[in-house]
Amino acid sequence: MSDKPRTVRALLAATTPWLAARGVESARTDAEILIAHALGVRRLDLYLDLDRPLDDDELARARALVARRGKREPVAYLVGTRELWGLAFEVTPDVLVPRPETEHLVELALAGIAPDAAGTIVDACTGTGCVAIAVLHERPGLRAVATDLSGAACVVAARNAERHGVADRVDVRTGDLLAPCVELREVLAVLANPPYVKDAERAALAPELHFEPALALFGEGADGLGHHRRLLVEARPLLAAGGFLACEIGAGQGEQVCGLPHEGFEAARVSVDLAGLPRVACWRKT
Ligand SMILES: C[S@@+](CC[C@H](N)C(=O)[O-])C[C@H]1O[C@@H](n2cnc3c(N)ncnc32)[C@H](O)[C@@H]1O
Repeated sequence: MSDKPRTVRALLAATTPWLAARGVESARTDAEILIAHALGVRRLDLYLDLDRPLDDDELARARALVARRGKREPVAYLVGTRELWGLAFEVTPDVLVPRPETEHLVELALAGIAPDAAGTIVDACTGTGCVAIAVLHERPGLRAVATDLSGAACVVAARNAERHGVADRVDVRTGDLLAPCVELREVLAVLANPPYVKDAERAALAPELHFEPALALFGEGADGLGHHRRLLVEARPLLAAGGFLACEIGAGQGEQVCGLPHEGFEAARVSVDLAGLPRVACWRKT
């Protein structure tokens, strides 16, 4: 970047090509988000006062964030939040950054649970807690048990439940998949966005993904579907008759997921996202 751009306009103009040259695809958007965050204003405010002068502290804060982004650290870790389902979730390096694709899992869950339903759902592999919290936000009669193997992720999920006013309806438990909630019965739905990236794909991942916890990314087994396989066994005793298990999958796993053993469930139904890619596999208990 050229030395000491002294206005918002000059800083944006210098930052955008600097980030683009480091392989950041959304360089302009990221520059806006990071500069707005450093100045403590909204993105829109940048454009309302493009010739606003910047003092040394503001410039130093913005440059520190931009430098980290230049090393491909995800924007969400730099600003500490990411939206899903219109809700802003706290993110830390202990949790996966919520992805827009995961709204498809939320949509599918809501389609299968009546607006006035009362009962319990489980969100396994909860991370930020975004799936459970988004569903509870839309279904005031539900409670959720949210599990994660990472204790640090559970702390973030609990804070997010507090932030969105559903802490009294979310029970966050640390442990392996459904082990922390084996006592549950008559559960309406078990939802999960488990890790599903194959280990063989590790080298080809975008640089940003190397900042995210490996525990959140890499699935078990050569096909990356080990968590899904285990959930199909563990979810059945918890679910009410007619209840369902819905899991996010990778875009290339649609066929393989249909071949997983699913004793006690109807055959998998795989739904596609707006781009036509397989995104969620759903099994209804027989
Ligand atoms: C792909 S992230 C999903 C996070 C969040 N649900 C979302 O959609 O953004 C997977 C999460 O599963 C957790 N995890 C990995 N293995 C697990 C296991 N065996 N049992 C429970 N959680 C696990 C990770 O710590 C991570 O938070």
